[in-house]
Amino acid sequence: MAFDLVLFGGTGDLTWRKLLPALFQAWRHGKLPEGARILAVARDERSDEQYRAFVAERFTEVESPKRPSDDEFARFAQLLHYRRMDLSQPEHYAGLKQWVDARAADTVVLFLATSPHLFPVICEQLGRAGLNGPHVRVVLEKPLGHDLASAREINRVVRASFAESQALRIDHYLGKPAVQNLMALRFGNALFEPLWRRESIASIQITLAESLGVGTRGDYYDRTGALRDMIQNHALQLLTMIAMEPPPTSDADAIRDEKLKVLKSLRPFTTESVARDVVRGQYRAGNADGRPVPGYLDEQKVPAGSRCETFVALRTEVQNWRWAGVPFYLRTGKRLAARDAQIVVNFRAVPHPIFPGPRHANKLVIKLQPEDGLELHLLAAKGSGPSAGGPERLSPVSLDLDFDKAFPTDRVGAYEKLLLDALAGRLNLFVRSDEQEQAWAWVMPVLESWAQDPAGPRPYAAGSWGPAAASALVARDGCAWAEEE
Ligand code: BG6
Repeated sequence: MAFDLVLFGGTGDLTWRKLLPALFQAWRHGKLPEGARILAVARDERSDEQYRAFVAERFTEVESPKRPSDDEFARFAQLLHYRRMDLSQPEHYAGLKQWVDARAADTVVLFLATSPHLFPVICEQLGRAGLNGPHVRVVLEKPLGHDLASAREINRVVRASFAESQALRIDHYLGKPAVQNLMALRFGNALFEPLWRRESIASIQITLAESLGVGTRGDYYDRTGALRDMIQNHALQLLTMIAMEPPPTSDADAIRDEKLKVLKSLRPFTTESVARDVVRGQYRAGNADGRPVPGYLDEQKVPAGSRCETFVALRTEVQNWRWAGVPFYLRTGKRLAARDAQIVVNFRAVPHPIFPGPRHANKLVIKLQPEDGLELHLLAAKGSGPSAGGPERLSPVSLDLDFDKAFPTDRVGAYEKLLLDALAGRLNLFVRSDEQEQAWAWVMPVLESWAQDPAGPRPYAAGSWGPAAASALVARDGCAWAEEE
């Protein structure tokens, strides 16, 4: 299958940090379909050779096992081409169409790795130039909008040129192997499904913690904040995969229909529930990885007195028969104590204890990163004999599954997976426009309440687990975050 992949924003960060290294890995693993042409498009004048040299230089920053040897790079670079384009000029799109038409590839994937404010003009011009035939797909990188209205506007413009099945919205969390394993765990195994409901599950926690700060992205981040950057998309996508009903098939729309139902079942926020159930924070100076780091307000490009949140913890519920009354806690933040993304499913305690000691409940920990695996926490008897004449006190133990060890080869990174899916037209791991708009609709009351609230985010020290109010939020229900247990 010959394909052309056009990277708009061909000299930008996303392209050389994520997309080209992922394409290189796919090529190295022999997974790129035959007949690949990768065309980078950007504003300045360069030849193919100059672009290849630009990429070669940046590839030296790629982590070493994934870095190409000179010989590998020379062969991979043959796939790379470059074209100057002024994205506002119709004749430049006509030129691109000629380039694409010249060899009539089976598939053309147009990846918009540009600033999202350019999406409308690019999509409109692609449509006008006729670069939207049935063999063309367009891939849109987040952030897809700033609020519900802007997301709808982007979708309206995209829809004017492309069918829904041609527009692939990336949420790179969906490409992580651990997230695909979540689907496998739930729908490829019969073990957990009977327990996957309010009768057996007491609460669910989703934590996406980062130890990094905002780095040099202070200007982008300050316009965005943690709610838009991580909760509206990544955390909600994970929640839908935990809470969805089994889809009738593995087709993209069968899965996305079920995810959409979950988003529609989330308890809507009101001004009162935002004040009670959502905690926002902003990091102050502290320590990260053993060295002192500045607070958010002292980061580069962050405006003085910013009220941007770098931490969010919230409590919600999925209002349906399966989940009624089960709290779902979502938490994300920059400069937290560790880089740690995981989902904790807390089961209910035994209804009638016959062993002495505290009633530890079972829990299933789905680890997304840095490790990728599962931990099932159980209670067991050590065999050390009875305690005080009664039965033995049970001890906590866990069954650990490390997917990197279980599948030492064959693992592909998130962007590699998503790029290969985009080329093959597999839509399961891309977000449909109605899901995306529903997720925006759900976060809007939070954004609106915050805008009216003079209190602003609560401070927390870099290197901590966020403001104390986040612990109080779960303690109110008699729960604790995983690291507090
Ligand atoms: C991105 C956010 O979507 O996800 C970043 O914009 C964040 O702020 C990143 O750092 C986290 O991704 P990962 O894969 O490193 O957990």
